[in-house]
Amino acid sequence: MAWKTLDDMDFAGKRALVRVDINVPVEKGEVTDTTRIERIVQTVHDIQDKGGQVILMAHFGRPKGKVVPEMSLEIIAPTVADILGVPVTWANSDFADAVAEMEDDEVLLLENLRFNPGEESNDMGFAKRLASLGDIYVNDAFSAAHRAHASTEAIAHLLPSCAGRLMAEELGALEKALGDPERPVVAVVGGAKVSTKLDLLGNLVGKVDHLVIGGGMANTFLAAQGISVGKSLCEHDLADTARDILAKADAAGCEIILPRDIVVARQFAPGAENETLAQDACPEDAMILDAGPATVAYIGEVFEAAKTLVWNGPLGAFEIFPFDAATNAAALKAAELSKAGRLISVAGGGDTVAALNQAGAAADFTYISTAGGAFLEWMEGKTLPGVAALG
Ligand code: 3PG
Repeated sequence: MAWKTLDDMDFAGKRALVRVDINVPVEKGEVTDTTRIERIVQTVHDIQDKGGQVILMAHFGRPKGKVVPEMSLEIIAPTVADILGVPVTWANSDFADAVAEMEDDEVLLLENLRFNPGEESNDMGFAKRLASLGDIYVNDAFSAAHRAHASTEAIAHLLPSCAGRLMAEELGALEKALGDPERPVVAVVGGAKVSTKLDLLGNLVGKVDHLVIGGGMANTFLAAQGISVGKSLCEHDLADTARDILAKADAAGCEIILPRDIVVARQFAPGAENETLAQDACPEDAMILDAGPATVAYIGEVFEAAKTLVWNGPLGAFEIFPFDAATNAAALKAAELSKAGRLISVAGGGDTVAALNQAGAAADFTYISTAGGAFLEWMEGKTLPGVAALG
């Protein structure tokens, strides 16, 4: 799909309304992960360099149309100013007055748009109020593009619109990974439940050459093939669905990779006593908490032969040692191949990025998306309203 970028717009003497995603984790009033703020810097600076003024529009948390003081963007404004290196003024409610008083080099940050019910209902009236504040709309919030909200969707129909640098970068990386990828393509999908990733699996089997299924989801697939999984997390009621996905994969020529060996324990606790067994040897009173070394070795071989990797979700109970072993080893293998220029690796999703960071692998991946839900919806093959509206 064709969308305009900052290079197609003339910002001189204009006000740019820039939708960003600075929905960052905050503890005791302090931002604990500034990644999303760092990733908007280029867009803001480029607009300013082109002679434009920047008005940032964003959400923070889920206040559901009401003013919730703990979700005020006033809390985040000082960190945004530090990272942008320019003065940032937070505008509480009188947006038009604040805009009228803006200095040239100053960035204005509008209060959490979700305090207004019109934001989430994609209300045209609210979008018009926002649009009246500026001349050009820039969407730099890929990670909020799965929401059809006034500041991500409706407003794009009211002003000349374009994608910011981060949005363009995210879309470019994702297109490389699944749109028009170099083959073979391997996807890693992990996490607790098949039920939350049905659309994702259904879409991927038609697109990738190998699909590694890990975490609790893998147990559902093993059980669906008549393999006992003991007390493991498993959605037994989804056995038919799992068999359908296996059949669809078979028809599409997609290899499904399930754990070939398993790491089991009787307690879900850090350091729990554990053993590595064959895929079909889970004792009745034990739980599968990770894939074993033979599985990791095979995944490594598949990565070696692949050209493109897309990753969402951990392979085991990565949050507790030693059940992070398969996730860590596979992530490090992908990182090594990516660093050597042999693999294009793209990862996204909250847990996934945490797992890759924990493994020390994230820095060498080709691209780490800032998106959680939007990354999943994109992997499901869905049209993201915020992206569609830019077209
Ligand atoms: C996110 O954190 O994934 C985005 O900011 C979207 O937030 P939401 O799920 O509350 O819409």
